[in-house]
Amino acid sequence: MSGMRKVIEPEAFVDAATEWILRKIDSVLDQSNHCHLMLAGGSTPLPVYEQLATQNDILWHRITLYFGDERCVPPMTPESNAFTVISRLFPNGIPKDMTVHRMCGEKDPDEAAQAYEAILPARIDIMLLGIGEDGHTASIFPGSVALDEEKRRIMPVIGSKPPLQRLTITPRVIRDAQHLLVMVQGEDKADAVRWALNDRSVPAALAVDGDWLMDSGAARSLPEKRDKQGVVV
Ligand code: 6PG
Repeated sequence: MSGMRKVIEPEAFVDAATEWILRKIDSVLDQSNHCHLMLAGGSTPLPVYEQLATQNDILWHRITLYFGDERCVPPMTPESNAFTVISRLFPNGIPKDMTVHRMCGEKDPDEAAQAYEAILPARIDIMLLGIGEDGHTASIFPGSVALDEEKRRIMPVIGSKPPLQRLTITPRVIRDAQHLLVMVQGEDKADAVRWALNDRSVPAALAVDGDWLMDSGAARSLPEKRDKQGVVV
């Protein structure tokens, strides 16, 4: 993974994230006939999913969707990442010829984690992640037992942001991703960005080798040196 750090003005963030995702989908589908794309929860990516929904040329029949984490809530509720993401990405319903694997947060967490692990491909081609103000990513929170998990790829955790019971990918799934984009917006994330890019103990540091797309607020604590495209150099 390239590990690019790009700082972009808030008004250009959605276009830049959309362009990165479309470019990576093309790249993966140039190399193989299927793409395993893992989506991030939270609010930051929602406008990006809405913009992807306007793209008529995405080869969804050659893409399988997964989620990096899920809250243990009923499936059709706004607190569910899958519910929120799918409603933005496919406002008219999921295309018939594609597969979306949601984590079953409504079921027994251990059983749901095992079932999801069973359908997870050996490697995610494109992974999207967000980070929280405390430096969490997916539902791997600071001090989480998930940080030390080396065997399981999906596990139940108790997060520190409600809803507390969650399912999450573990570090090895993040490390194994072929293409990884971390999307961060807002000054409230500036400390988390600085910690993650400088301190391996922060969960979001698991994504340090991926590409980071930040708006100027989130990048407030990063070095000033950037090239014409806003790439931190
Ligand atoms: C979740 C997300 C979580 C999210 C961060 C950032 O279930 O909450 O998976 O990891 O990406 O908390 O959330 P925002 O984008 O809403 O700030």
